[in-house]
This record gives sequence, structure tokens and C-alpha cells, in this order.
Amino acid sequence: MRSVIITGGAGFIGSHVVRLFVNKYPDYNIINLDKLTYAGNLDNLRDIEGKPNYKFVKMDICDFEGVLALMKAEKVDGIIHLAAESHVDRSIKDPFTFAQTNVMGTLSLLQAAKTYWESLPEGFDGKRFYHISTDEVYGALEMTNPEGIEPPFTTKASSGSHHLAYGSKFFTEDLKYQPHSPYSASKASSDHFVRAFHDTYGMPTIVTNCSNNYGPYQFPEKLIPLFINNIRHRKPLPVYGKGENVRDWLFVEDHARAIDLIFHKGTIAETYNIGGFNEWKNIDIIKVLINTVDRLLGRAQGEDMDLITYVTDRAGHDLRYAIDSTKLQRELGWEPSLQFEEGIERTVRWYLDHQAWVDNVTSGEYQKYYDSMYKNR
Ligand code: NAD
Ligand code: DAU
Repeated sequence: MRSVIITGGAGFIGSHVVRLFVNKYPDYNIINLDKLTYAGNLDNLRDIEGKPNYKFVKMDICDFEGVLALMKAEKVDGIIHLAAESHVDRSIKDPFTFAQTNVMGTLSLLQAAKTYWESLPEGFDGKRFYHISTDEVYGALEMTNPEGIEPPFTTKASSGSHHLAYGSKFFTEDLKYQPHSPYSASKASSDHFVRAFHDTYGMPTIVTNCSNNYGPYQFPEKLIPLFINNIRHRKPLPVYGKGENVRDWLFVEDHARAIDLIFHKGTIAETYNIGGFNEWKNIDIIKVLINTVDRLLGRAQGEDMDLITYVTDRAGHDLRYAIDSTKLQRELGWEPSLQFEEGIERTVRWYLDHQAWVDNVTSGEYQKYYDSMYKNR
């Protein structure tokens, strides 16, 4: 029996983690703690909301007293912390919210867990505070091979037709942090607090840093769901800069599987990078999306290529992310389960089949935000 709080469980990655844990561990008590910001949506979890081992609590991670009382009431022995403000463009417009949630919220959660666990006779024994972070804390890698080279490793994710690395350097766990955006600066700061709580108080913490996720239930402000929806409705596709920036893409369920494995088998105080050696230039992904949407909607191949619209670059836009996940693969035996081509096909189909979900989350406040973003470009 374990009692586990998953923060941010109503968001994109969090909902996949909650679903996996609720279905896989019927004897666990799974508590989804989420403030339900614009990015949180309980529709993401309709299929499991009636399960006896699942509970939703609407709460802000910054609410120290509320979180502490919840931990005591539920006898919580594990925390998987995903709640965050997660969109880089929003952090450029409104850095304060990112510092508040990502830094102060994480600190408040750490302090609540420490206070509760230290009050128990067994202290930190058998407890675990697992913090989910991002590869963006490492900054940006150089693109030394713009035409692409053979990557040092092939995983299922990268084993499709496109199989390239755009430089010989990768993000490894020992790299120094060099965040550039307010988002990544706030995540870097939260990572430091988590490690400080281990080093200072002996808290049983783990940190993981993952690359870009894609898949169902991602809020359509992020590249892949936004562009699928725009292609469907034949709206312009705002490509930042020249579209040459490189991201390393992982199917969200593979990230959730890694989180499960690391929560149960990872070593306390360690950091693990999570990624599938699956680098893509934005413009190449965008072409795959156009071809896939056009094919699935029965349109002529490439018919919608003229939707590509180059716009002003994102301020401080990181050029290349590429994760080296060999530590996780070697020590815990994790690897991605899905080839990128299969993952993208599943993802595009999901968004096309769930237009009501997309319309629901993109109405109202989001539409105002998106329109104002556009006006500034
Ligand atoms: P998301 O924006 O889709 O979801 C965030 C969730 O956190 C939402 O449900 C929101 O309501 C909740 N939340 C926000 N502020 C809160 C607060 N103060 N109190 C309680 N709940 C709050 O984010 P995501 O893309 O699922 O990312 C989840 C985590 O994974 C984040 O920590 C992010 O930094 C990290 N991450 C994301 C990616 C990615 O590609 N999306 C990659 C690596 C790491
Ligand atoms: O690397 C992990 C990170 O990946 C996570 O920590 C973040 O939470 C997550 O949002 C994501 O950050 P990115 O900034 O890489 O994701 P985004 O989908 O916003 O953008 C992907 C790339 O596409 C990036 O180079 C910017 C570009 N882009 C994005 C949007 C929304 C465009 O060209 N046009 C767009 O409209």
C-alpha cells in the first residue's frame, strides 16, 4: 500500500502518469493535486475518475497549510511533482507567475513534505519526493552538423526513416545548468531547491530532466497540437525564425513509463535524463504534420504546405536540445516503446478524432491570449 500525491495530474503529462498509476496499482491511494489553471482539465481523466484508488483535490501547490493537512490526512509517502507553468512563450510575457508556481510552489511542497515526514517515527524511511524537470535547464546545444549525422545510439523512438543528430554534443546529467528563458530559469531554480533539500535535510529526492513530449491531451498552445489544429482548419502555421531549431521528441506514454520505473527503482539523490535520441528540426516535423493531416483528411498530399508562415523568432530561442539518456537505459533498462512515425500517426489521429476536446480548451481565455500573441508578431 502506498499513498502518492501526483501534482499537476490534470495537465498533459500528469494525466498520463495518473492514468498509468491508477490502472497499474489498484492497491495504491493516488491523489491528483491540481489547481486547474488554464492548462488543467479534468476531461483528460474521465476514464479513471470513478476508480476507488483515485481522488482529485483542487489545490494550489503554494498553499503550504492545505498541502500539509492533505499529506497528514492521506498519510502520503510519495510525491510525484509535475505541477508547473510549462509554456516558454507565456514565461516571456509573464515571468512572475512562473517564479511563483515553479519556484515558490516547489519550495512550499518540499517544506510541507519535510514537515510531515519529520513528524513521523520512521522519518524519511520509505518516502520519496520525485521532481519532474526539463532538458531546457541545460540551455542550448550548438548545431555543428546542420545536415545531420548518425546519432551515437538508436532507440525505438529514433529508428524510423529519419535518423539524425545535428551535433556531436548531448545533454548529460553532469552538465552545468545554463537556462535562457524565464521558464527554464524557474525550472532550474526548482531543481536546485529539490537537491538542496536532499543535501541539507536528507530528504529522499530524485530529479529527472526530459526532452519535448508529444501525444494526446497536450494543450494546443504547444507546437504539435497547435499546428495539427491549424492545418485542419487551414489557418496559418506560425514558424518561429527559420524553423531550423531542433527539438528531441518523446511520446508522452514513454515518459510516463519512465516516471513509473524511476519512482519505484531509481536511486535517491540521483538525476536521470529521459529522451529517445529523436532529434528533429521544427520545419521537418511541420512537414510531417501537414502530410499526415492531409492524408488522414483525404486531401491531396502537401496541399497545405502554403500554410507555413515564417514569423518573428521567439526571444532567446534555444537552438538545439538533444538528450543523452544512456544512464537511464543502462541502469534501469528503460527504452522508448514507440517509433516516432507511429507516435505521430497516433497523435494526429487522436487530435482529429477529439475536435470537441480541442474546441473546449481553446475557447475563451486561451483564444484571447493566442490572438494577442499573434498581433505582436
Ligand atoms: P501542463 O501545462 O500541461 O500541465 C501543468 C499542470 O499543472 C496543469 O494541470 C495545471 O493546472 C497544474 N498547475 C499549474 N500551476 C499549479 C499550481 N500552482 N498548483 C497546482 N497545480 C498547478 O504541463 P506538462 O506539459 O504536462 O508538464 C508537466 C511537467 O513536466 C512540468 O513540470 C514541465 O516542466 C515538465 N516537462 C514538460 C515537458 C513537455 O514537453 N511538456 C517536457 C519535460 C518536462
Ligand atoms: O524540452 C522540454 C520542453 O519542451 C518542456 O520543458 C516545455 O514545458 C515544453 O513546452 C517544450 O518547450 P518548447 O519551447 O520546446 O515547446 P513548444 O511546443 O512551445 O515549441 C517547440 C518548438 O517549436 C520550439 O523551437 C518553438 C517552435 N514553435 C513553437 C510554437 C508554439 C514555433 O515555431 N511556432 C509556434 O507557434
